[in-house]
Amino acid sequence: MYLKPKKIHLHLGLEKPLRILHLTDLHLSLSDDRDSDEQREWAAKRREIFFREAESPSRDPVGFFEEAMEYAKQFDYTVITGDILDGLGHANIETARRILSGKEYLYCLGNHEFCTMKLDAKPEERESIRSLLKTVFRGNLTLDSHLVGGVNLIAADNSGYRWTEEQYELLQQEVAKGYPILLFTHSPLENGIRTLDPAFDRRTGVIYNHIVKNYGEEAIPTTRKVTDYIANEPLIKATFGGHFHADFVNEFGNKTTYILGGLFKGIVGEIHID
Ligand SMILES: [Fe+2]
Ligand SMILES: [Fe+2]
Repeated sequence: MYLKPKKIHLHLGLEKPLRILHLTDLHLSLSDDRDSDEQREWAAKRREIFFREAESPSRDPVGFFEEAMEYAKQFDYTVITGDILDGLGHANIETARRILSGKEYLYCLGNHEFCTMKLDAKPEERESIRSLLKTVFRGNLTLDSHLVGGVNLIAADNSGYRWTEEQYELLQQEVAKGYPILLFTHSPLENGIRTLDPAFDRRTGVIYNHIVKNYGEEAIPTTRKVTDYIANEPLIKATFGGHFHADFVNEFGNKTTYILGGLFKGIVGEIHID
């Protein structure tokens, strides 16, 4: 096997142990002659960046993705936390559709699924991109859940760091089901997002400005409210994210956020729960 599994163990008092596969950040950067010269050059540059970041990986991203989705058959469920696509070129879309076709998984969108070359998509472009992404990834891409072995897995879109009132309501409905929850997002949850106080630290300042620029000042109180709700809700046992391409943990309220490295490096997360 070329994949590099990172294992974590959680104790929730289950009658039967459960194994969840977590995948994130493949950054597929394919292109072909249907794309413009500029798009092809950009994709080639991106492939080069991720090849170097992965320090000469043993397989290309397509190979890792195919192998990971095959490996997923050995698990009770799979959750993918975004940035599978690095741009929306034809070959990227077709490859992701082919590899994911007929598979069962939860998906949360990543910021790079809303990037057109170097730039973040404009706020008015996001809805049409979301419609296209719905043809690639299964499930409700705003917030979706799957109950397996007495554990409620939730995947939610916080690709632009913000949360919405709709997601707040959906989350409360999930909590009302009464099962222990593992919550997956692309951008890892952390204490700074609970305050969204630009003075908390430099990174919180960057996130604050990003939310205001893309969604307006009014998105701040809702994002704060939802993040705080997640941090305080006892049924949410742990949160999981990607985005940073490295493995580490964040403190988040009285829980832990487990951050997984990129699949373009061959990294896959195994969550063993008992
Ligand atoms: Fe990423
Ligand atoms: Fe990301």
